[in-house]
Amino acid sequence: MKFEKNILCIGAGYVGGPTMAMIAYKCPQYRVTVVDINPARIAEWNSGELPIYEPGLDKLIQASRDKNLFFSTDIKDGIMDNDIIFVSVNTPTKTFGAGAGMAADLQYWETTARQILQYSKSSKVVIEKSTLPVKTAQAMENILNYSNSSVSFDVLSNPEFLAEGSAVRDLENPDRVLIGSRETESGLKARETLVEIYANWVPREKIITSNIWSSELSKIVSNAFLAQRISSINAISALCEKTDADITEVSRAVGMDSRIGGKFLNASVGFGGSCFKKDILNLVYLCRHYGLNEVADYWESVVKINQYQQERFILNMLTAMFNTLADKKICLFGFAFKANTGDTRESPAIFIARRLLEEKAEIVITDPKALRNARADLAGVNGKISFVEDPYMAAEECHAIALLTEWEIYRNLDFQKIYSTMAKPASIFDGRNILDHKRCYDIGFNVYPTGKPALTHF
Ligand code: UDX
Ligand code: UDX
Repeated sequence: MKFEKNILCIGAGYVGGPTMAMIAYKCPQYRVTVVDINPARIAEWNSGELPIYEPGLDKLIQASRDKNLFFSTDIKDGIMDNDIIFVSVNTPTKTFGAGAGMAADLQYWETTARQILQYSKSSKVVIEKSTLPVKTAQAMENILNYSNSSVSFDVLSNPEFLAEGSAVRDLENPDRVLIGSRETESGLKARETLVEIYANWVPREKIITSNIWSSELSKIVSNAFLAQRISSINAISALCEKTDADITEVSRAVGMDSRIGGKFLNASVGFGGSCFKKDILNLVYLCRHYGLNEVADYWESVVKINQYQQERFILNMLTAMFNTLADKKICLFGFAFKANTGDTRESPAIFIARRLLEEKAEIVITDPKALRNARADLAGVNGKISFVEDPYMAAEECHAIALLTEWEIYRNLDFQKIYSTMAKPASIFDGRNILDHKRCYDIGFNVYPTGKPALTHF
């Protein structure tokens, strides 16, 4: 069968995999290939056990895999055979040298640019899917267009706004698709090629275009704004705990102002995920680079409040449990950075687990999807740690439950049964405010929600 377009994606991660699965699903007339340097990951994409858990993703993959969606490790052939290349390799925070701990590590990105240059025998449209510092597209253009060959490259920025756990829904029905391009004749033509792909299922008015730098910056700023809302509400949750105000009530009252809006105002144990912290630090680095220190400080405080919220959670536990956690058994309900994903990158649970172990507590971790990652995150950490799939068994003989991920199943557990097997006094620290606190209190628990008065029997 002859396909209308041949599309490649380099990087088969949380972004590349689902995004390409959606394009293939919506556009059977295109051939979509996803390549990755990691053969184990590609083998998983080709198996019945996908490398990431994402509701609805297996159905998409099953519908298209080996028809017009292919997963492969053959990067060279992939580049040669396709004219439209998405790049979705990871861009973690740099851990070494200049900008360590702040700037994005662009080594994978640059390696990929060089591979594209090396293997391209025809002109390509190259699309930045990864979140990158502003002006990275220009660096990529410089690398790609350095040689005098007749092969030409147009670089577009098309940031991904999907959130994990709702990736399929976000991809199918996005708030907007953003495409940044050069405003030259070939840049505009390349932009139109990409608009055409999305227009297969996204209404045209939701596909917005801009120059490349605005597109790159918009992605980082979107994440910074979302994270800022969480840090704002979390900062107020600390004040609520001191003043007997209730953060859920405050959040509802504030969010009903249509100028503010109600989303992303849930107080929590802190935000996690691979993007928020990395992207804000990237923004902070960029601001400092341009001498905008006040702007940098402003955004950096969003990350500082997030750290503060996690530390505060531990200190609250310590205070509530008679100022010592040594030899107490604490069960962590949830390890993923949010519900409906097995992803634990930057999960507050990692920090909290480590801090509890520092306090010499014994920890039992339960999570419906993230235990494999939790084991890897805590490998080599000293202390008593166990991993138990069943939440009832996990809580047995524990002195406290720390609820860290808002999995739906935790709302509906039989807390009477759980209470009966725990050490007394038994406490619940609800880092997501999803439990029925009054009911848990009536059962006998001491209940410590986030940003609300504690309910204790003392
Ligand atoms: C990543 C970044 O974290 C995010 O900032 C960006 O917006 C998109 O890419 P994600 O898909 O979640 O997001 O990352 P990850 O799951 O780590 O996937 C990246 C994949 O790229 C990995 O499978 C890795 O093996 C692959 N890769 C990396 C390559 O194929 N080639 C490389 O040179 C480097
Ligand atoms: C985020 C952006 O939402 C998405 O647009 C971008 O493409 C990638 O980064 P993601 O990190 O997958 O997506 O999940 P998100 O739903 O944004 O949650 C991030 C963190 O914030 C989670 O730890 C979540 O639990 C937390 N959160 C979210 C809160 O603590 N309170 C809220 O009200 C909302």
